[in-house]
Amino acid sequence: MTTYKSVKKNLKDNPKTWLITGVAGFIGSNLLEALLELNQRVVGLDNFSTGNNQNLLEVKSLVSKKQWSKFDFIKGNIANFKTCEKACKNIDYVLHQAAIGSVPRSIKDPIKTNKSNITGFLNMLVAAKNSQVESFIYAASSSTYGDHKRLPKIENLIGNPLSPYAVTKYVNELYADVFQRAYQFNSIGLRYFNVFGKRQTPKSVYAAVIPKWIDAMIKDKEIFINGDGKTSRDFCYIENAVQANILAAVTKKKNALNQVYNVAVGDRTSLNELYRLLQKFFKINAGIEHNKCTYKDFRDGDVRHSQADISKASQLLGYKPTHNIEDGLKNTVLSYIHKSRN
Ligand SMILES: NC(=O)c1ccc[n+]([C@@H]2O[C@H](COP(=O)([O-])OP(=O)(O)OC[C@H]3O[C@@H](n4cnc5c(N)ncnc54)[C@H](O)[C@@H]3O)[C@@H](O)[C@H]2O)c1
Repeated sequence: MTTYKSVKKNLKDNPKTWLITGVAGFIGSNLLEALLELNQRVVGLDNFSTGNNQNLLEVKSLVSKKQWSKFDFIKGNIANFKTCEKACKNIDYVLHQAAIGSVPRSIKDPIKTNKSNITGFLNMLVAAKNSQVESFIYAASSSTYGDHKRLPKIENLIGNPLSPYAVTKYVNELYADVFQRAYQFNSIGLRYFNVFGKRQTPKSVYAAVIPKWIDAMIKDKEIFINGDGKTSRDFCYIENAVQANILAAVTKKKNALNQVYNVAVGDRTSLNELYRLLQKFFKINAGIEHNKCTYKDFRDGDVRHSQADISKASQLLGYKPTHNIEDGLKNTVLSYIHKSRN
């Protein structure tokens, strides 16, 4: 049995109480669905700033009545310490996802990003420490690699941050680290690399490339590639990110704690290849032929290539991605097409 399979079996046999912040967002709502399917008790916290109630209702429709009855939702802001204190009461494991994502958004409004991502993060750390939770896992980011050129990225080699967002995510890591030294409070940071999958919003001007392109392809609109299309990313399907969170939360290995881990596949796909894959899945699964693709200028602040070395997570947490980009894209395209037709 793989580590992940046995961990899931243990959780089913001995359910825990989890707190997911940012539960109404993309990653948070997928964590919620996975944990309820394992019959866990879950408290969710969100202020609906970028997430929405529709995501929660979708999860409700996918799990059983009994599983849904084990979910409690708190509408609130992590920038408010009292809200964090309330949310952390009687919690075993915290999965802290709430933050204002997007590099361009942080360049436009660094103060707003700072409030959720640094003040909110610190509030959550203190509240979780005071409640003596068993584990605290938080969403870090590959943006922390900044201008460091090395590929694939390894956790201990980072460059200078390229955006206010990257600063906030790096500060999270520094705070988490100092909380271990100053208060012996353990945590684990997961540096996500371009996570994608169902319930990722295509709607915002800051939407990520995959939901944005899928939405345009469903509506037969033009898609735009920034630059020459050779920019590449380590696109990580949501189920891999869920796996990393669950493994990190339950680990009892001392040397696995107080670390940051790359969460990705360890592969690299260019934007041109991504478009070709999407064209293929739209044709096979929906009979849709899309050929409206235009190249634009490179976007400011975009890193040219990104790829993770995932050996640390695999050695210390037993992380083993179950989906490569093709598997993940196929599922994602199907879920968006299904949603658009219902
Ligand atoms: N999606 C990715 O590829 C990616 C990559 C690197 C890091 N991350 C990080 O992963 C986490 C989840 O990202 P996501 O893609 O699901 O984004 P998302 O925007 O879909 O989800 C974030 C959720 O946090 C909530 N939130 C934001 N500020 C809040 C506040 N002050 N109080 C309460 N709730 C608040 C939002 O309403 C939203 O529901 C974030 O921390 C993000 O920075 C994501």
